[in-house]
Amino acid sequence: MTVDKSRADKTSLTMSIQPFTFLHSTRRVIFGWDSLVQLDALAKERGLKRPAAVIDEYFAGTALQDRLRDILIRATGTEPVFHAIPSHEPDAPGVEACAATLASANPDFIVVVGGGSTMDAAKVARMLLSNPGPAAAIAGFGMRMTPHASLLVAVPTTAGSGAEVSESAVIGLDGSDVKLIYRSQEMTAQVALLDPALSVSAPTRVTAYSGYDAVTHAVEAYVSNKSSPMTDPFAVSAMELLARWLVTACEQPDHREARSACLIASMQAAIAFNSANLGLAHAISGPLSAQQHVAHGLGNALALPYTIEFNEEVLGDKGRRIAEIFGGATASKALAALRHRVCMDVSLDEFVKTDADRERLAQWAIKSGQVTTNPRPTTIGDMRGILQAMRTPTGG
Ligand SMILES: [Fe+2]
Repeated sequence: MTVDKSRADKTSLTMSIQPFTFLHSTRRVIFGWDSLVQLDALAKERGLKRPAAVIDEYFAGTALQDRLRDILIRATGTEPVFHAIPSHEPDAPGVEACAATLASANPDFIVVVGGGSTMDAAKVARMLLSNPGPAAAIAGFGMRMTPHASLLVAVPTTAGSGAEVSESAVIGLDGSDVKLIYRSQEMTAQVALLDPALSVSAPTRVTAYSGYDAVTHAVEAYVSNKSSPMTDPFAVSAMELLARWLVTACEQPDHREARSACLIASMQAAIAFNSANLGLAHAISGPLSAQQHVAHGLGNALALPYTIEFNEEVLGDKGRRIAEIFGGATASKALAALRHRVCMDVSLDEFVKTDADRERLAQWAIKSGQVTTNPRPTTIGDMRGILQAMRTPTGG
């Protein structure tokens, strides 16, 4: 009997791929140095006339705000309404205030310029224009949201969160430790406009924190048990770009190629985690930021080398690939070395001072949904062990 070998190979390959779902809602990605001006063409091609802009308060009163106003007036013939989002993580009242400003403009064109927090706030605030509030009422996974007719363009000014393409958002609840998690394809920006010239102004510390957040997104999406042939190429490309350029972006803030690469990598990592989800580092960094107010990217840097060390025995070829991309004997050693190079090799003890607080962190982290997509099953005892290990800096 003759066997069609190519057909048999294809069959076995298909059989080895686990079922998956890939989600991506952003309709257009625009990349280019000084591409902010393309807002003009986006408005004109749709005949948009009622602009509103949501900006990080860091940019309020700056030349960037003036430039954005000029572009939007030229594009629409109308003075845009502006709303500034406080630079710390937005809470529900802040999002509702943003929604009230947007409602006053009845906008058909909403542009958000800022980091992940600002983009998340704008995404949720816009949904409050077409859905009954308050902000807490539309939180949750699988929430059916009525779309809003406006065009939302997200313009990231840091390379990290990937909120310009992700379908999710995180908002604080009235200054408490509780976070409202949002997930909807309707909420997602239709256009992600990546202008790396805007990220040049980010301070080195912000570049390092947000960059290591993107590293963590890429690595955790790559090893997630929900990773797929649709997410792996995005995760691998993001890791390669960040391995090559993150340190340069920190050391030479106006390096065009480094800024461009990190911004693209951040978006790619978010495309990957939007479907593959994340893992233990994010399970830990979430409560670490809520309880101890540790910056999100720093929290990930505190955790990732140790969570990957814990996972290493189940990573197989993917572990070897991570080690190869970031340049280390193992994946965890390579990620520790990168953390060291961007000056985030610090002990958990700097933020979590007591055994009781560490136990509270462990109890909260183990309840995270991100534990379920971690490649290695994790017990509360494992979580305690990881947090214990995080007390000792790696030394690079
Ligand atoms: Fe993150």
